[in-house]
Amino acid sequence: MLRSGDVVLRPIRTSDGDDWRRSRQRNAAWLVPWDATPPPGSAPRPTSFRALARRLRRQARAGTTYPFVIEVDGRFAGQVTVNNIVRGSAQFASVGYWIDKDFAGRGVMPRAAALVVDHCFQVAGLHRIEVCIRPENTNSLRVVEKLGLHEVGYAPRFLHIDGEWRDHRIYAITKEEVPQGLLRRLEQARVEEG
Ligand SMILES: CC(C)(COP(=O)(O)OP(=O)(O)OC[C@H]1O[C@@H](n2cnc3c(N)ncnc32)[C@H](O)[C@@H]1OP(=O)(O)O)[C@@H](O)C(=O)NCCC(=O)NCCS
Repeated sequence: MLRSGDVVLRPIRTSDGDDWRRSRQRNAAWLVPWDATPPPGSAPRPTSFRALARRLRRQARAGTTYPFVIEVDGRFAGQVTVNNIVRGSAQFASVGYWIDKDFAGRGVMPRAAALVVDHCFQVAGLHRIEVCIRPENTNSLRVVEKLGLHEVGYAPRFLHIDGEWRDHRIYAITKEEVPQGLLRRLEQARVEEG
């Protein structure tokens, strides 16, 4: 379990099903423009929570994914997932996230993302984390801006999102950039901003 004040990250559980379904239904319009979709000809993605949780837990056991639920004051608030974990000489992963609109705008995701990045660097032995964002997603661009991630590239037609191949802006951070941790750097920046 990872914690920053009222924000807690913990592994996803089968018992999250009811909260997950309610949140996804209420937030459908908020999430659809940014949700991954199956490219033509590929296997359908799991649509039920049970199938999704099973797949995430299988990937977690294989060490390729760390799937976290975000809780705020003990309430289900969203997900942050470390994906595409590559070991060997890369020690790389990407991070994806979403939050229930009821919890948006309180700086929850910058803290949640900082917690997982610190976990990846300090506990899981990873070296580089990427966040890939559609150029239209101004809210998510604010998250990486607050975190101080560097923009390292632009990937045309990078991921299949909301039914089409979509361009993405690529942001990254390496372990050497945050010797004291990303959460600490984020908190210091907030204090300095007043
Ligand atoms: C991107 C996202 C995770 C940001 O999470 P968050 O916890 O709200 O992050 P922040 O509190 O730092 O807010 C980021 C920006 O969102 C905007 N925002 C805040 N509250 C909002 C609300 N209720 N409605 C719409 N936009 C809002 C603001 O521009 C804010 O920037 P600011 O703090 O400079 O004003 C969230 O907007 C989300 O889940 N969006 C849908 C899914 C998604 O885009 N996932 C990421 C794919 S790359």
